Amino acid sequence: MLLTSGQISVAISSTVVAIFTFLLFLSGYVLQQQTVHSLQAAIHPKIAPPQIPTTNPVLAKHFGRPPGHSFYDKYLASNRPKGGWAKSAYVQLVRRHVEVCGAIMGFARLEKEESMAQRIIMYPREWDVKPEEGKKRDPHVETSRRLLRKAAKDYRVMLQPIDPIPQAAGSPLTAEEKYPLTNLLSPHHYNRILFLQPSGLILDSTPLDLLFTLPMESPMLGLSAPGLDGERGQPSIILLQPSKQAYQDVVESLPEGAYPDTEFLQRVTMESAPTDSEFHTRLLAETSQLDAESVADFNATKFLDTTAYVHISDPEPEYDILRQEFMRAMPSGKQARKAWESVYARFRDARMNICGLDLQPVEKAVDEGGGKEVIEELK
Ligand SMILES: *[C@@H]1O[C@H](CO)[C@@H](O)[C@H](O)[C@H]1NC(C)=O
Repeated sequence: MLLTSGQISVAISSTVVAIFTFLLFLSGYVLQQQTVHSLQAAIHPKIAPPQIPTTNPVLAKHFGRPPGHSFYDKYLASNRPKGGWAKSAYVQLVRRHVEVCGAIMGFARLEKEESMAQRIIMYPREWDVKPEEGKKRDPHVETSRRLLRKAAKDYRVMLQPIDPIPQAAGSPLTAEEKYPLTNLLSPHHYNRILFLQPSGLILDSTPLDLLFTLPMESPMLGLSAPGLDGERGQPSIILLQPSKQAYQDVVESLPEGAYPDTEFLQRVTMESAPTDSEFHTRLLAETSQLDAESVADFNATKFLDTTAYVHISDPEPEYDILRQEFMRAMPSGKQARKAWESVYARFRDARMNICGLDLQPVEKAVDEGGGKEVIEELK
């Protein structure tokens, strides 16, 4: 049977597509393996760290903590980030009032554990606008400003107001569209920044500090918790090497005049966050994936002692949801449930202790510009 030229070209192009797909897969796989290896090498370097003088501040800070932690301390004491800690920063981008406290809780933890990296909060510049003569500021804005001032004073956080993306004609922009993640590439002064997706709880900042010292093969690396079947969600930790070039490359590849987070995140190289079985530590966990743990020999105490960052979602931890709903969302395993409840309880307690805020009443939440904003006056 003879093939028509149309059929031949279809056959050829599908072969070409298949070969390219395979090559792409291979190159992706090789890159991924290299990064995994560099991550593993960094988490578990082959060369023993040299002897460290006892006056080293990094070692001193964890004096008295159980062994197992000292590994990171030794590693950090001998491996500084490129350009030093002055060029490394944790950055939080708050776009809604409800997110402010979570960001500050993270920085409170970094201060307590004496992380040497710099700390930045980006917030909407409109919160700085003076109210008109004779008018009072919106109570949400007032609360957020109080918390931001506290972060600057108590936790050495630099406050960076950011300008909104101008609104084109049509529907109003959501908070995410107005203050997109592309802003994370703007602090050019820093060699590396680390962004934690809200909301979450830092349980141990030292393994996070270590991420500033890792080699990076792309200017944007996203880490997600190792999920079920290698399934990968959104990155809960993003490492960025900001530069004018990186910013320009990303912005030019986005649709004209818009900076959608979903498109931005597609340009982030994704990795599974490393776990270290020898030291029983994990960098990152997701509350929404704790159910997957219920089958294994999961131990809640151990989980809470050895995880660096827990990303909390479904439900969002800032809201005071009904007990039945909370129970429905819980994982089924006994130990996983214990860990889950403890993470939510710690978040709630820190919200009160650090920010003086109760949970947000969820009944009063209205959908405004695609997100939750609460009418109820904040305390
Ligand atoms: C979990 O681990 C801790 C020590 O890390 C141990 O004391 C405890 O008995 C363990 N719990 C269970 C249920 O295995």
